[in-house]
Amino acid sequence: MHSESSSSEPSNLPLKQIPGSYGLPFFGAIRDRWDFFYNEGKDKFFDDRSRKYQSTVFRTNMAPGPFIASDPRVVCLLDAVSFPILFDLSKVKKHNVLLGTFRPSWSFTGGYRICSYLDPSEPKHTSLKSFFLSIIATRHNKFIPLFQDCLDEFFSKLQAQIQIQKQVDFNSLNDKMVYNFIFRLFCDKDPRETNLGSDGAKLFDKWLFLQLAPLGTLGILPKFLNFLDDLLLHVFPFPFLLVKSDYNKLYDSFYNSAVSILDEAASFGIKRDEACHNLLFLVGFNTYAGLKVLFPSLIKWVGLAGEKLHQQLVDEIRTVVNAEGGVTFSSLEKMPLTKSVVYETLRIEPSVPYQYARAKEDMVIRSHDAAFEIKKGELIFGYQPFATKDPRVFENPEEFVPNRFVGEGKKLLKYVYWSNGRETENPTPVNKQCPAKDLVLLLSRVLLVEFFLRFDTFRVEAKPAAILGSSVTLKSLTPKATTT
Ligand code: HEM
Repeated sequence: MHSESSSSEPSNLPLKQIPGSYGLPFFGAIRDRWDFFYNEGKDKFFDDRSRKYQSTVFRTNMAPGPFIASDPRVVCLLDAVSFPILFDLSKVKKHNVLLGTFRPSWSFTGGYRICSYLDPSEPKHTSLKSFFLSIIATRHNKFIPLFQDCLDEFFSKLQAQIQIQKQVDFNSLNDKMVYNFIFRLFCDKDPRETNLGSDGAKLFDKWLFLQLAPLGTLGILPKFLNFLDDLLLHVFPFPFLLVKSDYNKLYDSFYNSAVSILDEAASFGIKRDEACHNLLFLVGFNTYAGLKVLFPSLIKWVGLAGEKLHQQLVDEIRTVVNAEGGVTFSSLEKMPLTKSVVYETLRIEPSVPYQYARAKEDMVIRSHDAAFEIKKGELIFGYQPFATKDPRVFENPEEFVPNRFVGEGKKLLKYVYWSNGRETENPTPVNKQCPAKDLVLLLSRVLLVEFFLRFDTFRVEAKPAAILGSSVTLKSLTPKATTT
């Protein structure tokens, strides 16, 4: 097991040239894009290069390349030791690098550079992040009861559909549930009481797809039409015009409904209009897209782990809830297996797999085996699923080990990076860690708790979704056995 805490601390490791090449201008980037999406696929792309260069740090082009990204060259990090350089804001800058080598037009965000695109050295980042941390904190009493209410409706629908159709698509009902939850959390009313109804989820889907398309494939065309998939998604950016009227509808809906949040923005020195565009991004990009990926992934891994784990979770959850008299912040803390299962899901399949940052100065970073020099201005890219499945930190890294983070296992939490920071660290107005770190963990735990209060076991089938995460189908759902 490794004990390093910083990827930029001085060390005695040999200083090596970063291996790898960008190939010919333009053509090298197209070749890497085709390898990434079609010839090899994401994991094999990184695996093959890491083997070829015998290094977890190397140079490559990252998708999408021409013509969407003007410079696709990155230094790629694949191990748990080098990865945290991306969190060290004394060494790296996070200016406009949310999606890496490209960014969608600012029209998608009302003409504003939204918090997620700002570097903490920019005063606007501090005020927006403080605003977000505050609106999350002041709503914390609503989290559990509101989410329980949304889950109750969600589980009833899953149960009803599976009875009729013998299987049910988890993702589409999950999307609606997540949207309803966020709307009620931030706007204090059910979206079905507004003109948009629950259609907001679909509008956000379209808005997200147009921005994230350069990072995915349609996944529906036969292989011989890959060139069409490539041309459609990876060569030219989609114009905002395609989603303008939908975005305006969302804007109006939140502007009229999120009155108390927009009032609060004034005390952080943020104009109402800018606050509302930032809120839309927080709701649609950060929260909706995040939970749209995470919850199916959680259900997939727990489902595939099988009945033995389900029985253990049922035992832990029902015993604690009975003893504590309900689902509360404190009862959730007393469920070590449930907590570990959530961490393990976020380790094995981090919902946001790509992280980027630009070197602020010439610097030396290190992996397990060597030190490498990075020049000021170079773009550093971390592929998180490899860093959190580093075989020199985690035993059986490819295996879903439900109790990995129980007891002594908690020492490994510092190598869990899903929130854009170590699990042992916390978001602040001056770092780039996800301000909803605790909320995301809480919701994931409540999802499991409510699920196993209601069901004894279930079966799933899963396949990769188009851009991120998995599409999950529930094949069976066994309600809690009633004791006579
Ligand atoms: C599964 C759910 C979520 C995941 C996996 C996730 C992950 C992340 C990651 C990786 C980043 C850093 C992105 C980067 O700079 O490279 C981030 C930032 C951020 N997240 Fe989350 N997040 C989730 C949910 C949420 C929720 C529920 C909210 C708000 C309620 C939220 C708000 C934000 C904001 C505002 C930032 C930008 C922080 C900054 O600029 O300092 N996220 N999140």
